[in-house]
Amino acid sequence: MLKTNILGMNLSNPLFLAAGILGTTASSMKMVSDAGAGGIVTKSFSIESNDGYDNPTIIKIEGGVINSVGLASPGVEAKKEELKQLNEIRSKTPVIASIYGDSEEVFSQVALQTKDYVDAFELNVSCPHAKCGYGSNIGENPETTYNIVSAVKDTIKDVPIIVKLTPNVTDITTIAMAAQEANADALTLINSVGPGLRIDYKTAKPILNNIFGGISGPMIKPIALKCVYKTYQTVDIPIFGVGGIKDYKDALEFLYAGASILQVGTSIMYTGPEIFKTITDDLTKFMEENSYKNLEEIIGLAHEQ
Ligand SMILES: Cc1cc2nc3c(=O)[nH]c(=O)nc-3n(C[C@H](O)[C@H](O)[C@H](O)COP(=O)(O)O)c2cc1C
Repeated sequence: MLKTNILGMNLSNPLFLAAGILGTTASSMKMVSDAGAGGIVTKSFSIESNDGYDNPTIIKIEGGVINSVGLASPGVEAKKEELKQLNEIRSKTPVIASIYGDSEEVFSQVALQTKDYVDAFELNVSCPHAKCGYGSNIGENPETTYNIVSAVKDTIKDVPIIVKLTPNVTDITTIAMAAQEANADALTLINSVGPGLRIDYKTAKPILNNIFGGISGPMIKPIALKCVYKTYQTVDIPIFGVGGIKDYKDALEFLYAGASILQVGTSIMYTGPEIFKTITDDLTKFMEENSYKNLEEIIGLAHEQ
């Protein structure tokens, strides 16, 4: 009932692991596959390794977390070795590589070097706390978004390109349109919100070493839903919805808003990878009880008034 396919990937269910959570090593990604995820997005990586910020880089807040991991990651050579080990699971659990860079050349090079080991790329142009100084500054601007997506599309003809957008803009649909015009195959909405700030009331000092960090988890769901809803009305390419999904009801809201595929990030920290099976079991039960035969009957329903 939850079987679906997107961009040439056949999925047992529409729930992907979101970038940055458990997506660093092959063994953790295999564990997520065993736990029942429909697909995996890796932690973002680039050509060079990046140490990210010093600890503390992540703290729990009401309704979510705030993090300034800063795109900490191994470089492309080390990542390629991890990706090779995922070949055995890709027919069951497709793998999307999340990549970042500071120029068209870097994005294109990372994609070229890893394209044989992945089913799609997710271009991270939306990190609100990138240590290297680039991230959402690309995805806040339609022109730079267009240029990066075009460059990667020109370089990589045979692997689909998904563009992950930041909600931290005046109108996300202008950026979504720029990505579509550059021939992106799909969009992922949204990266973390903010950045935001928390201060230790006892010491009067910012808690995160980087002072500011991206906000994620259940508290950002209404913002993510708004972004998916508005973008669904604007573009023709499919949308991966992400931001605060913790149960099947949240999953349904994203599908109703127009997401074809879903990603789960922060909520895994509360319940562990079992969350994939819990949500898919509950979603199947809901669909049976409400006589839905497949996901297509649900996607975009909130737009039919
Ligand atoms: C600790 C942490 C690390 C993250 N790292 C990345 C990353 O490397 N690349 C990326 O595109 N998004 C990253 N994200 C953002 C998530 O993929 C997701 O877009 C965001 O957290 C909203 O979804 P959620 O509320 O389900 O976590 C990270 C989020 C968290 C909490």
